[in-house]
Amino acid sequence: MSDRFAVIGKPIAHSLSPDIHQAFALQTGRSLTYEKILGDEPTFVQQVSDFFSTGGKGMNVTLPFKEQAFQMAVTASLRATQAGAANTLWWQDNGLHADNTDGIGLVRDLTRHFSLAGKRVVILGAGGAAKGIIAALVDEKIARLTIANRSLSRLETVPSTIDKCLFSELGADYDVVIHATSASLLREAIVLPEDLWQSNPFCYDLSYSLQHATSFVSQAITHHCQAIDGLGMLVEQAAESFWLWHGIKPDTESVLAMLNQSA
Ligand code: ATR
Repeated sequence: MSDRFAVIGKPIAHSLSPDIHQAFALQTGRSLTYEKILGDEPTFVQQVSDFFSTGGKGMNVTLPFKEQAFQMAVTASLRATQAGAANTLWWQDNGLHADNTDGIGLVRDLTRHFSLAGKRVVILGAGGAAKGIIAALVDEKIARLTIANRSLSRLETVPSTIDKCLFSELGADYDVVIHATSASLLREAIVLPEDLWQSNPFCYDLSYSLQHATSFVSQAITHHCQAIDGLGMLVEQAAESFWLWHGIKPDTESVLAMLNQSA
């Protein structure tokens, strides 16, 4: 029988994770099933428990359950602990183990384009998506990391060791701008000061769309900046989960090309 894997989130219908994991499985000669589970806030813990108690091998977790998934785990990797959130779960030594592959996924995708060492980076947004990538960026020996947010209250939840500011205070000080707000879900443009674009930063949107440019990518291109969305990060974080579950590193370039062709 094939090993069972799944991704849980809400919404989940448009998740590309099953296609990506099946492509990795084909490449590496594995047989697996990978289903989408529509998460339900009141019964999330039960849904995850049921999956593993009925033989599930590994689960990816997406919005809005990453923090809850981390809290459920008995053991966790350092990177999941630093993020306070998990996107990869498996059963290990009689308990649920949590990891977080989002940060490494982002770094691997960004380093397709340039080395992060010495770069001045700003993350827009201070919610769960932003916190999930901080540690991986810091590990890349960047020159400076700033977390910027629209409003003050969530900035106060960012560790005091990290430089922070309001969007309205952003200037032409960055080489890389990473969009991590949830505004993309509503396809809204976010309000940013004109100065931010003056240094022509490389712009990266953590969200992605196969059908159209995301609103942040469009906004950055309008301001004459190079910009890409997070499809590459999606494939890279999936590859790291695949490696954790199967002990094999799949080829990501061919899977990314397949997804781009299907658009
Ligand atoms: P996630 O887990 O996806 O990061 P979250 O924890 O709810 O979601 O955080 C949402 C982030 O997106 C916050 O930083 C939020 O800013 P506020 O703290 O000011 O609310 C940001 N955000 C959402 N919609 C936004 C918008 N239209 N413009 C700017 N920031 C927005």
